[in-house]
Order: sequence, then C-alpha cells, then structure tokens
Amino acid sequence: MVKICCIGAGYVGGPTMAVIAFKCPSVEVAVVDISVPRITAWNSDKLPIYEPGLDEVVKKCRGKNLFFSNEIEKHVAAADIVFVSVNTPTKTSGLGAGKAADLTYWESAARMIADVSKSSKIVVEKSTVPVKTAEAIEKILTHNSKGIEFHVLSNPEFLAEGTAITDLFNPDRVLIGGREENAGGLKAIQTLKDIYVQWVPQERIICTNLWSAELSKLAANAFLAQRISSVNSISALCEATGANVTQVSSAVGKDLRIGSKFLNASVGFGGSCFQKDILNLVYICECNGLPEVANYWKQVIKINDYQKNRFVNRLVSSMFNTISGKKIGILGFSFKKDTGDTRETPAIDVCKGLLNDKAQLVIYDPQVPEAQIFKDLSTPKFDWDQLGSTIQITEDAVAQSVKVVHNAYEATKDAHAICILTEWDEFKSLDYQKIYNNMPKPAYMFDGRNVVDVAKLRQIGFIVYSIGKPLDPWLKDMPAIA
Ligand code: UDX
Ligand code: ADP
Repeated sequence: MVKICCIGAGYVGGPTMAVIAFKCPSVEVAVVDISVPRITAWNSDKLPIYEPGLDEVVKKCRGKNLFFSNEIEKHVAAADIVFVSVNTPTKTSGLGAGKAADLTYWESAARMIADVSKSSKIVVEKSTVPVKTAEAIEKILTHNSKGIEFHVLSNPEFLAEGTAITDLFNPDRVLIGGREENAGGLKAIQTLKDIYVQWVPQERIICTNLWSAELSKLAANAFLAQRISSVNSISALCEATGANVTQVSSAVGKDLRIGSKFLNASVGFGGSCFQKDILNLVYICECNGLPEVANYWKQVIKINDYQKNRFVNRLVSSMFNTISGKKIGILGFSFKKDTGDTRETPAIDVCKGLLNDKAQLVIYDPQVPEAQIFKDLSTPKFDWDQLGSTIQITEDAVAQSVKVVHNAYEATKDAHAICILTEWDEFKSLDYQKIYNNMPKPAYMFDGRNVVDVAKLRQIGFIVYSIGKPLDPWLKDMPAIA
C-alpha cells in the first residue's frame, strides 16, 4: 500500500487528499496540520471548509484510507510520498515586502521532513510557490538528508473553490514537474503519475521540468485574472457610453479563440491566489531585470483596485455624496459563491470604503461566520503598491458601525441602499418587492455581480446600478465619478 502524507489541511490539501483517497482505495492518505482546531474539525461532522460535495467524499473514506491528524512527524516518517500544501502568503516586511512569497512555512516543513525521514521519499510541492522553490527545497532536503534520497516534484493544483470536488474529479490537466534529466527523477514522476492515472485520462497528465510546472501555475492564474480585469475595464467604458457589458462579453466570447468563460464583469476578483500569484510574478520579473513585464502584470491588479474604488465612488455619488449614518445592506461577503472563504474578497475593500464614508453596514452572507467578517474589516491591510492609499478601519469603528445578520431580508430592512457583493444563487430569487417595501425611498440597488434582473427591479421602483450596464437615468444626472 502506497502511503501519502499531506502537510497542510487547508482549502487545497484537504479536498485534494480526500479525492485521492476516494479514487485510490489502495492508497493510504494522512492529512496533517499544526492547527489542532482544524484537524478536530476535519474529524467532526462540521468540516472546517464549506465546499459542495466535500462532505460526502470525506465521509466515504475517513477512518478507512483517509486520516486527519496533528501527529505530523509520525505520518511524514511513514510516508512514501509527502505533499506539502502549507500556506505561502505575501511577505509583509523585509526584502520583497508586498510582492514576494513568504516561504517560512514551507521551509520549516522541508526541514522537518529532512529531520524525521528514515526512508527515501518523494516530496511534492502542492502550494503555489515562486519559480525555483523546488530547487531551494531540494537543497534543504539534500543538505540535511543523512544519506536518504529525496525527489522533489512540483504538482500545482488548479482547483477553484466552490467547484473543488468536480474540478478534482475531472481536471482539465494534471501537471507534474520533475527532474526529467535523471533516472530517479523520472521514476518519481512515474510514481505520482500512477496515482492520478487511476481516474484521470493519460493524455491530461502533463509531465514537464520543475520550473515549467511552477511557472505554469503562476501564469495560468495571471491569465485568468487578466481576463477579469480586461472585462472589468470594458465595464467602465460601457457605463460611460451606454453599452451593456454582458452583451459585449457574450459577443467577444463567441470567438472560439477567446472563449466564453471567465468574462463576467464584477466588483473585482478576490481569493487567495490571483493577487498573490501576480505579485509573485511581478517580483520574479523585477528580480530578473524585466521591469516592463513586471509593470504589465501589475496593471491587472491596479484595474482590480480601480474597479472596487469605482463601485464605492458610484454608490456615494449616487446618494447625494453622503452616506454618513445611512444604513447599507450588504448581501454576500465571501470572494465568490459556494465558499465561506473571505481571503482578498472585494467585499473587504468595498465595506471599508463605505465605513470610511461613515455608513452603517448590515451584512449577510450564507457561509461566512460573523467573527470572520469582524476580523476581516478590522485587520489592517497591507498596501501592496505602497502608495499609502489603503483604507484602515479601527476595531472600535467596526464594532460601532457593522452588524452581521442571518438572512437577506433582515440585512435590507430599513436600508437606504443594498450592495450585492457575492453572486450567491439565493440572491437571484429574493422577493425584491417585499425588500423594496421595507426600505426608505429612494431605494437603491448596487449590484456588483450582475445578479438581479435590472428591468424588473426598476419596475418595482428601485434605482439600480449594475456593473457595466446602461445607467439608470437617476445615476446619469449625478456628478461624474473619479
Ligand atoms: C483560482 C483559479 O481559478 C484556480 O485554477 C487556482 O487553482 C486558484 O485560483 P479561485 O480563486 O478558487 O481559483 O476562484 P475563481 O473561480 O478563479 O475566482 C476568482 C475570483 O474571480 C472570484 O472573486 C470570482 O468571483 C472572480 N471572477 C471569476 C469574476 O469576477 N469574473 C469571472 O468571470 C470569473
Ligand atoms: P491553501 O488555500 O493553500 O490550502 P490554507 O491556509 O487553507 O492554504 O492551508 C494551509 C494549512 O497549512 C493551514 O491549515 C496551516 O495550519 C497549515 N500549516 C502551515 N505550516 C505548517 C507546518 N509547518 N506544518 C503543518 N501544517 C502547516
């Protein structure tokens, strides 16, 4: 029986290992983490992350060939293959602050593997890491190896949150990077391939050298984020000229060379990967003497920041330039639907912008816990481009001006305006007439996800702003936004 150990039981490690255990009954998988509450939750009925389909997969395998444990060293020592799926946040101080990845967790995991190993191991990079991390890891492992052989592979994960299980069941591709130039490296690649081939068609398993695999992950995320910034930049032009961004992106996406996916205009992209990976790419370019390339990719994040600011400015300017003391109902806080994850969610910046203008916020999200929302809004955000323009809100101000409630009707009752910041399905079918009746007039709707039926809401009486859609006559007369 092949033994796998995965260090890091997060959004990537947890679902990926659950699916490997599910698809490969002859493989024993242990997922380990330093966090005791996380592992306790993985072993309970309430898993630490919300992901459609995950509960069923975990329930089928847990206790059979899937184990969650805090006994990190024991499971690492026993494993043939060690996946490393720890977090790699952006550095917030020192050299490369704001751009480079902080590899502290990675390095400590690598040193621990070298320390406890008594047999040869394949060590697999699963977290997205800067190009050439594998080389650094190899150095740590071989210099501390006590004669044991380690083979390092890069096997970046392309799952998206909210669809993780279907993505893992049916991946577009599985990428395995390794030392193709030597027999040990080739054997390690084959060993990992033998796992995936149990459910992934051969032709979708791509083997490359280490650096290509690492760079492909950064490049894929950068290309995806770039599409969103592209359509979001067009959304601003649509609003200025009366075109409809949904019609434009549908027409553009019909070109098979462009494709129709990932062209939805929004209040901005979020999630743990896009901004972090692009900043990483920017840093690598700068370090390699490529400032033009670095600046090209920076622009993708700048447009994302611009889109969030634009949304806040539009709201304030539409409401007579003052939202001080006005109640605003916020629908959705997670960075996309079907996840409770709030990392880099545009809702944080939008809510901070509204709080900065002294609004009172009542927030509802079907999955994000109240404590997380308070934490996100009061945690100082790192200013990635160091322009000093990042808004910081104190814990006291958040406590005084934010309320978290348990349904959309409560959030919107007596609200002067509603902001939709996540495209949860339930927001499509709310009783907007009832909501309208419970709001002071004029009642505003600011849809940052193009969820609502604009014509229907206007008929009810709402003043509606929907990203990239022709403006409400009311909004057209308002002062121009920055
Ligand atoms: C992303 C990549 O898709 C995945 O391959 C990688 O492994 C991790 O990063 P994830 O961040 O989970 O996955 O979600 P994704 O579906 O890519 O969405 C990211 C953000 O872009 C979300 O905030 C989403 O709402 C936004 N988005 C997406 C848009 O605004 N418009 C779109 O058309 C698509
Ligand atoms: P991702 O989205 O990349 O999966 P997460 O933050 O969700 O990131 O998960 C990373 C996990 O890695 C966390 O649960 C964290 O506790 C764990 N972790 C970080 N460093 C170590 C370490 N040295 N040993 C074990 N677990 C670690």
